[in-house]
Formats: sequence, C-alpha cells, structure tokens
Amino acid sequence: MPHLEISDLITATDPRSGDRLPVRRGDVIRQLEEHGDHRAARIVASLPTGRDDVLDPHAVDRLLVGVHTELQRLSEELRIGERLVHLLGPLLAAVRAAATPARPLRLVDVGCGLGYLIRWLAATHALGPDVELIGVDLDAALVGEAARLARAEGLHCRFVHGNAFDLPEAATVYVSTGVLHHFRGPALAEFFRAQASSPALAFCHYDIAATRLAPVGAWAFHRARMRHPLGRHDGVVSALRAHSDEALLRAAAAPGIRPLLYEPRGMSNPFCTTLRPVLGIRPHLEAPLRRALGRASRRLVGPEQLAEVVR
Ligand SMILES: C[S@@+](CC[C@H](N)C(=O)[O-])C[C@H]1O[C@@H](n2cnc3c(N)ncnc32)[C@H](O)[C@@H]1O
Repeated sequence: MPHLEISDLITATDPRSGDRLPVRRGDVIRQLEEHGDHRAARIVASLPTGRDDVLDPHAVDRLLVGVHTELQRLSEELRIGERLVHLLGPLLAAVRAAATPARPLRLVDVGCGLGYLIRWLAATHALGPDVELIGVDLDAALVGEAARLARAEGLHCRFVHGNAFDLPEAATVYVSTGVLHHFRGPALAEFFRAQASSPALAFCHYDIAATRLAPVGAWAFHRARMRHPLGRHDGVVSALRAHSDEALLRAAAAPGIRPLLYEPRGMSNPFCTTLRPVLGIRPHLEAPLRRALGRASRRLVGPEQLAEVVR
C-alpha cells in the first residue's frame, strides 16, 4: 500500500477557487489506520479540533509553517540554491543564446512552500537581473509566510497563492524542490504535460533520489533536525515515496520535451541523501545547454543513456 504523508491529509484546498475546505480529524485517522500507520494516526489524534470534529485550521497552519521552517534547514544543508544555479545558470545562458526570448525571463517555483529557494535566488542575484522570480503555492499559510519573510528581508521577488499553472503570465522555466513525490500514478505525467503544453522553454524539478539508503538518511536527518513528530514522520515517508530515475524520465517525456536527469543513480554517492533534478527542455536547447555546462554535461543523461550509467 502506498505511504501517506500527514501534511497532505490535514489540509484541503479547492483546486479551482483556492478556498480552504474543512477536514475532519476522524476521517484522517481512519485513512491512516487503514494504511496500517498507527503512529501517524496517533499524531493526528493529538491535533485540536473545533465543531463537528473539523481540524482547527489555524492550529494546522501554525504547525505546517513550523514544520516547513525546520525543513528549510534541509535546503540549506543540501545547498539547494547553489545546485540549482549550477544547472539553471547554463540553461538560462542557452535560452538567451538560442533566440531573443521575451523579457523578463520568468522563473516559477511550483509549490514554493516558505519560498526558501526564491528568496535565496533573490538575495544572491545569482541568475541575473533579467530573471523575474515567482513562488506559487496552493497553501495560503505557507505562501503568506514566504511573502512576509521576503518583505522583511527586502527582497525583489513575488509570491502568489494559487495553482502555478493558472498564472496570468507564462513561465520561461518551471522549477520545484521536494514536490514530485506528492504526485502519484498518472498525476506525475500530467504534472509534466501541463508544463510541456505551456509556452515554457524548460523545467527543472529537484526531489529526493530514490536509493535504498534514502529512508535511513532521511530518518537520521529528520531525527537530528526536526522536533515535531509530524515533520519526522513525513520526512521518512517522503523518502519512501521518492520516484526512481527511470519513472521520472518516463513521466517527463511529454510531447515537445527532451527529458534529462542530472546525476542519476550510479553517478552520485549512495551514502548521501540527496535531491537530484529531472529536467525537460525544448530539444533545440540541448546542444547550447551542453556547451554551457562544459565537463559537467557528462552528468546529464537521457533515457537512452540511463541503463548504461546504472549498470
Ligand atoms: C512538500 S511541499 C514543498 C515545499 C517547498 N518546495 C520546500 O522545498 O520546502 C509541496 C507543496 O506543493 C504545493 N503544490 C502542489 N501542486 C501545486 C501547484 N500545482 N501549484 C502550486 N502549489 C502546488 C503544495 O501546496 C505544497 O505546499
């Protein structure tokens, strides 16, 4: 049976209107019990409710902002900003060189949470002044906190509450961190197809590498760095839910997209829990991207090379 993350179950949003929907604690507990996850059921049983057994939305928001604040340390320790720039820098150079694209170039972080990545990029100016930085999340509390932090830090970036694929302006590049494993079954390919059928030129999504050691690594990290049992639980479950390299490349192969994986299994250290990206680029960008990456381009593999690398 697939593993469930508590944070996916205790909030619900209408995907069209963005309105918060009530969630009954008993329903969540039942779902977790049916999956045999009694520990998770006990964690949910300790959350406060109001009338009709509905989980207190303010308490849930406070809890999720707290957990994501602790989770931000994972992005800091894995140097996710630097690693994105290592790829996105050359990718944007390829975009600028290949044609005269509309300006500004627009980077959209899908499911930005507290916006660590967008705020880091804004603070470091790492991608250049012609790149507009936008974080989008369906969760109003998380994206609200992201906007508050950006204001407090005086950063030049924007946060939007809603569906990243409903923005009025087209993205040049979509990115995300720690989001892919939330899409199960056909939803993963649909996620990539939504970007392939948009005017975007590329996407680059980072998620936990599915190695046999990933759940152990995630357990150790979340034990050491996170206090709330919900954060510890979901951290380990997300490593168990991580998609394999093969599954990501298959799902990302949408029409008009060249799917690529950077540092697949076999090219990375299996003792490190890490996030690695799946990319999708318009085919004409592959040659300029490889030129801009130089030697590092050897680490970028398509479906036809994956079998050789992991052998
Ligand atoms: C686990 S969180 C990741 C948060 C953040 N990227 C990080 O690394 O801390 C996944 C988030 O994706 C958001 N999400 C999923 N699909 C989305 C979409 N189509 N548009 C906007 N947000 C989305 C969810 O609301 C959730 O907050």
